[in-house]
Amino acid sequence: MSTLFTGISELRTVSELGTLRDAALVATDGIIEWIGPASEATAADEHVDLGGRAVLPGWVDSHTHMIFDGDRSAEFEARMAGESYAAGGIAVTMNATRQAGEQRLTQLLDQRIAAAQAGGTTTMETKTGYGLNVASEAEAARIAASHIEDVTFLGAHLVPPGADAEEYVDLVCGEMLAAVAPFCTWIDVFCERGAFTEEQSRRVLTAGQTAGLLPRVHGNQLGTGPGIALAVEVGAASVDHVNYVSDADIELLAASNTVATGLPACDLSTRQPLAPLRRLIDAGVTVAIASNLNPGTSYTSAMNFCVGTAVLQQHLTLDEAIKAATWGGARALRREDVGGGKDAKGRPAKGSLVVGAAADLHVLNTHNAVDLAYRPGMPLSYRTFVAGKAVN
Ligand code: NIG
Repeated sequence: MSTLFTGISELRTVSELGTLRDAALVATDGIIEWIGPASEATAADEHVDLGGRAVLPGWVDSHTHMIFDGDRSAEFEARMAGESYAAGGIAVTMNATRQAGEQRLTQLLDQRIAAAQAGGTTTMETKTGYGLNVASEAEAARIAASHIEDVTFLGAHLVPPGADAEEYVDLVCGEMLAAVAPFCTWIDVFCERGAFTEEQSRRVLTAGQTAGLLPRVHGNQLGTGPGIALAVEVGAASVDHVNYVSDADIELLAASNTVATGLPACDLSTRQPLAPLRRLIDAGVTVAIASNLNPGTSYTSAMNFCVGTAVLQQHLTLDEAIKAATWGGARALRREDVGGGKDAKGRPAKGSLVVGAAADLHVLNTHNAVDLAYRPGMPLSYRTFVAGKAVN
C-alpha cells in the first residue's frame, strides 16, 4: 500500500536533504520510498493533501516514565511555594503504582501514548521504576513492552522506604533484573545524591550490561556529581538531565558516543537551572531533547513545548531544537539513520526523513515550523502519522 503526501509547505527532513519547499513524499508499507518536489511526484494507491502545512519527522521522545498511577499535585504546589525537589517523592508514586493493577496501568499507558502521539510524538521510550519490587517492576516492564519497543529497566530509581540500600541494589542486580530483562532493551540508574551512589550505579549498569541490556543514566540533575563521567565510562547511549555540568564533563561527552539529553519541562517544573544545551552543542556534544513525562518532575509529554523552550530559553536555533527532539532522540535510542534509512540493526531509522526510514510524520497546523517557538503554547500539532498511518 503506497501513500502520496502533498500540500507540504516545508518538509524538514533533518537529514542531508535539508528543508524542501512545496515538497511531496511517498510512503510504501510504512517506509519512505520517495521524497522530492511536488511537481515531480507520481501517483500512489492513495493521496493525502496536507493543505500547505509544514511537516517534520515525528518527535522521538527518548526519556519518559509512562507506567505509573497516583497524583503528586500537592508536592508540585509545595514546590511552587518554595520547597525544593527531592528524589523521595518517588515513593508516593511507588505505592499507587503497586496498587493499581495491570488493567488500570494498561489503560493509563494507552491514554498517555495517545496524548503523546496527538502532540506529534511517533517514537517513545519508557522506563519502569515506580514498582521497586520484583513483581511490580516485572509487571511494569511487561505492560510497557506490549506497547513500546524501547523499554528501560529503572529498578534503581530510589531505594524503597525502609529497605537497606546495598541489599536493594543486590535485588535490582539479581532477581529483579532477571525478571524484567526479557521485556527490556535498556538499563538505567538515578545516579544522584539521595538516590544511588556512583559505586551502586556502576554495579547496576554493569549487571544490566551482563544481562544484555544497554546502559543509559539519569545524571547531574540536582547537583554536580559523577553521573556524566560514569555514563561515558560505561558507554551509555545517553545521560539525561545534565543540569549541572563541569568543563571536564563536557570534554568527556564531546569525545564520546554518549548523547546528553535535556529535559526542559522537567527543569521548569523543578525550578532547576535549565540544562546548558547551548554550551554542550557549541562544544560538539550530541544533544537530545525529551519530555521526561512523569508525575513528579515533568507531568507533560508535550514535545512542542520542550522544543519551544529550548529555543526561547536555552538559546538553540529552531533547526537545532528540532534536530535534538527528532534525530537526537533517535541517536539516544540508537535508532538513527546510519545509511540507507536504516539504523545500526537494519530497522527503519527514526528521527529523520530519508528514503528507507520509517514514515513517521508530524504535520503542523501552520506553514512554517518556526511557529513552534514564535507562537508557543498554540495548538500546532495537526496530524501524526506512524509508519505512514494517521494515529489521530
Ligand atoms: O527523571 N530523576 C529521576 N526520575 C524522574 C523523577 C521521578 C519522580 O520524582 O517521580 C526524573 O525527573
